[in-house]
Amino acid sequence: MTPSTPSAPRGSILNDLRILWHLAAARVTGNTHEERLESFYKGQAHGYDAFRRRMLHGRPELFQHLTPVPGGVWVDLGAGTGENAEHWGPRLQEFGRAYLVDLSSSLLKVADERIRERGWTNVATVHADATKFVPPEGAADLVTMSYSLTMIPDWFSAVEQAWRILKPGGTLAIVDFFVSRKYPAGGLVKHRWSTRTFWQLWFASDNVFLNPDHIPFLQSRLETAYLEQRRGKMPYLPFVRAPYYLFVGRKPV
Ligand SMILES: C[S@@+](CC[C@H](N)C(=O)[O-])C[C@H]1O[C@@H](n2cnc3c(N)ncnc32)[C@H](O)[C@@H]1O
Repeated sequence: MTPSTPSAPRGSILNDLRILWHLAAARVTGNTHEERLESFYKGQAHGYDAFRRRMLHGRPELFQHLTPVPGGVWVDLGAGTGENAEHWGPRLQEFGRAYLVDLSSSLLKVADERIRERGWTNVATVHADATKFVPPEGAADLVTMSYSLTMIPDWFSAVEQAWRILKPGGTLAIVDFFVSRKYPAGGLVKHRWSTRTFWQLWFASDNVFLNPDHIPFLQSRLETAYLEQRRGKMPYLPFVRAPYYLFVGRKPV
C-alpha cells in the first residue's frame, strides 16, 4: 500500500511543476544550515511526499528488513514529513516511543499533521540537529536515516551520534544516494567516472552531496547485516538511474 500524506495533494502535473521549480530554479538562502534547509523546503513541504516517492527509492523495503523492538525506542534522523513511520504499518505500535527528528519546521509540520491524523500516541516530532540529538530515554534500539545523510554537511558526526545513542546490539539502518570510490574495496560496486561526476554535480545544486565514503565508514563502525547497492529512476530524467544503497548495521555488543 502506498500511504497518502495527510492533508497534502496527491501526485499531479501541477504539483510536479511546483516541486521541479523548487529543485531546479528556486534560490536557497540563509546563513546557517537550518535556514538553508527551511528556505529549500518551505515551498514544497505539502507536495514533498508525492514527488519524493518516485525519487527516493528503497524506503519501504528498508523497513521490511527491520524488526520493531517491543517497548523500544526508534529514532528517525532527518525524518522530514515522517513518511517512514507509515512503512511500519501496524508494527509501529510495538515501539514504546518513536522520535522523528528534523531541522526543517515546514516538513515537521506535515509530520505533526500525520501523527494527529493517524492517532499515533507513541510518536513525536523533534526539532533538532541530527548530529546532536539524544532521546530523552538516553539510548535507542533502532536509528534510521533515509536520504538525510547526503544532506547533512557533517555526515560523519551524524553517524557518530547515531552510534553513540544506540544501545549495544542496536541497529542503524540507512538508505541514501551514493557514488562509489574510484577504487572500491572488494564486494562494493564500482561506478564509472561519468556516473560519479554526473550524479555528484546534479545533486550538489540542491545541497545534496553524494559521497564515496558513506558505505566504507558505516562498515568500519558497525557489523554489516545487510547491504544492497542499486540504481533507481529519477522523475523526468528518462535515460539515467541514480545509484543508492540500503545498509543495515549492528552496533557491536
Ligand atoms: C531528502 S530529505 C529526506 C526526508 C525523509 N527522511 C524522507 O525519506 O523523505 C533530507 C532531510 O534531512 C533533514 N536534515 C538535513 N540536515 C539535518 C540535520 N543536521 N539535522 C536534522 N535533519 C536534517 C532535512 O531537513 C530533510 O528533511
